[in-house]
Amino acid sequence: MRPTLLLLACCFGLASCNSIAYRPSDTVQAGYHVIWSYPGPIIPQDIYTAATAGRLGGIILFGENVNDNLPAQIDALQQTYKKSKNYPGFPLLILTDQEGGEVNRLPGGPTQSAKEIGQSSDPATAAANAGSTVANVFSEYSVNGDLAPVLGVYRQEGDFLDEFERSYGNTSQLVSTCVGPFISAMQSKGVLATAKHFPGLGAAARGANTDVEPVTLNLTLDEIRGVDEVPYKTAIGAGVKMVMPSWAVYPALDSKYPSGLSKRWIQQELRGRLGFRGVTISDAIEAGSLAAFGGTAERTILASSAGMDIILAAARNTTQGSDAVNAIVAGLKNGRLDRRAFQESTKRIVDLRRSLNGRH
Ligand SMILES: *[C@@H]1O[C@H](CO)[C@@H](O)[C@H](O)[C@H]1NC(C)=O
Ligand SMILES: *[C@@H]1O[C@H](CO)[C@@H](O)[C@H](O)[C@H]1NC(C)=O
Ligand SMILES: *[C@@H]1O[C@H](CO)[C@@H](O)[C@H](O)[C@H]1NC(C)=O
Repeated sequence: MRPTLLLLACCFGLASCNSIAYRPSDTVQAGYHVIWSYPGPIIPQDIYTAATAGRLGGIILFGENVNDNLPAQIDALQQTYKKSKNYPGFPLLILTDQEGGEVNRLPGGPTQSAKEIGQSSDPATAAANAGSTVANVFSEYSVNGDLAPVLGVYRQEGDFLDEFERSYGNTSQLVSTCVGPFISAMQSKGVLATAKHFPGLGAAARGANTDVEPVTLNLTLDEIRGVDEVPYKTAIGAGVKMVMPSWAVYPALDSKYPSGLSKRWIQQELRGRLGFRGVTISDAIEAGSLAAFGGTAERTILASSAGMDIILAAARNTTQGSDAVNAIVAGLKNGRLDRRAFQESTKRIVDLRRSLNGRH
């Protein structure tokens, strides 16, 4: 028995570690790094097959997936996973966007938008109530992670974040006041929170949507650090489990790569300067803003090598999730992905998912 393998298995905290040394294959480890999505109201066979094969890190749910039968389907998926030989001892990630107001995928609230919370008489309490509501709604659906809150500090009435009232306010202080209680309330009930979209989309103009086209935010580093990053300090201080980098380009630090493909933003600024130790998760890998960076496989390699732990394959096409897993496996084999960095990244995801044990 090779001691390195034993060490690896133990560092992953795998259930089988006590009895025999078990090292997941590259494919199974790569699976941890990809969140899949699917079309329509029924979880398709492809998703079950991927879970059993260890190629599925979890799923993201959209409106078209939501119906009364969804909770039973999610439980069936988790049970299938649990019975498979690739079950690592912790559940799949089940994620969705529940920001409040107009941006809720599941019925049940929060009914207040981020902006309404920010403008209420007691924003901190309103934000805590909203975080708690998300956790209650999620427990009915067996969803264990929220791709919220939005940490952007909006600049102009009606701009990209303000149009749908997704920003808590137009000052760092107000946004910070809200995000801490929202995150703490949700995470104390066992639901993972995600601070997005680092370092911030508050300066994006109305219609400047990275889902559709490239967006460049030409702010000075002083403004980004002095305004947009301030709520990240609060969120990280509150123990936020995940951060989603944005797909906008911020030339102040990197004029070539969007934040989510940028070593400078993810490693230097988010992990280095701000000290974030949790899991980074991408925005939708199919985003139109990434058109210049190749297809799913190339985008996955660029994001992963920049320091992105989890790739969000959100196109509601199971081929996309599969392509992302294959890209990571190939990247490990051909050396485009550094194996040591990959193992550290895998450990962050394993720790995150183990923290869900006993909660969902
Ligand atoms: C924020 O918006 C309010 C009005 O809604 C305005 O009075 C104030 O000047 C704005 N603050 C900043 C920093 O833009
Ligand atoms: C970005 O800002 C700098 C400094 O204000 C300016 O020189 C440059 O032309 C701007 N670039 C774009 C694309 O707006
Ligand atoms: C899913 O993606 C694959 C690969 O890009 C493509 O060939 C296929 O047509 C897509 N399926 C749907 C239903 O869009």
